[in-house]
Amino acid sequence: MTLKDPSNNVIHMPRRGQLRHADDASRRRKSHARVIAITSGKGGVGKTNIVANLGFAFSRLGKKVLILDADLGLGNLDVLLGVAPKYNISHVIRGDKTIEEIIEEGPGQMRILPAASGIQELTQLAHDQKMQFFTNLDRLIDDLDILLIDTAAGISSNVMDFVVMAQEIIVVVSPEPTSITDAYALMKVLSLKYAEKSCRLLVNMVAGAREAQDVSRQLGLVIDRFLDIHIDYLGYVPRDDKLTRGVKKQRLVSDLYPEAKASHCFSELARRMLKQAPSSRPKGNTNLYWHHLVRTTPH
Ligand SMILES: Nc1ncnc2c1ncn2[C@@H]1O[C@H](COP(=O)(O)OP(=O)(O)OP(=O)(O)O)[C@@H](O)[C@H]1O
Ligand SMILES: [Mg+2]
Repeated sequence: MTLKDPSNNVIHMPRRGQLRHADDASRRRKSHARVIAITSGKGGVGKTNIVANLGFAFSRLGKKVLILDADLGLGNLDVLLGVAPKYNISHVIRGDKTIEEIIEEGPGQMRILPAASGIQELTQLAHDQKMQFFTNLDRLIDDLDILLIDTAAGISSNVMDFVVMAQEIIVVVSPEPTSITDAYALMKVLSLKYAEKSCRLLVNMVAGAREAQDVSRQLGLVIDRFLDIHIDYLGYVPRDDKLTRGVKKQRLVSDLYPEAKASHCFSELARRMLKQAPSSRPKGNTNLYWHHLVRTTPH
């Protein structure tokens, strides 16, 4: 398969003054929490399952984990986990509830910030509404070890604003050619519009390590040639019927079938991520990097 660089997009680079503002903000913030966004170009590649199982694995390793369902219009993390939340992010955005009041507890004691489903306005939040929400979210950070963000698919600014506020970006890709080309498009936007220098790649629904490494190599070759962004291969999750069985029962594979191949991969990934340095991204000491928005969103 060949990948071509579709180079006619209009790309907005951050303005200088805005960058300086963001850097100043980052120096002010210090928190030990790691903020990790899990995203993809194409939909349906397994982000929500990965976030939930990684969150569970981190919890099992004794970490305080919060998962943010940032698929604002079509959130389904709660359904996957068999949790029935009374309130969700839409109530915080409308000012009816505080962010603390909508937190639910999921399996393994991880905590969840549920999104609404079927509320289209949430996919088109104004800059001020996002800033307000991130300011609220910021309050929770000091009490956490890990904030995992499950984003919607794609490259809309509503998705990207959640991606670039994280300290670490994990792009999920499946071996389908359409998923690979969409991952490339996403990394192109991350690089050109948001000046990101690196992200990690997680290959899902593969037969095994060799297929995952092939996908990573294919993508890496084109990215090295055309883009100024580096991808680190993080690992893979195999296609596993037990995961699907768990989804149907609204239970996590890691919880229901700890011996399944996918479950082993999730706990191995979590262990490896904890050993790795949090991030190679030059973002000062900040974790929840909502100030990043200042440089990327027009007023
Ligand atoms: N490793 C796997 N093995 C088998 N099935 C999987 C695996 N990972 C994901 N799936 C299946 O793929 C489907 C999509 O998964 P999921 O909802 O996690 O994707 P997503 O990327 O979050 O989708 P969206 O972009 O719509 O948010 C689910 O039905 C899930 O059961
Ligand atoms: Mg999802």
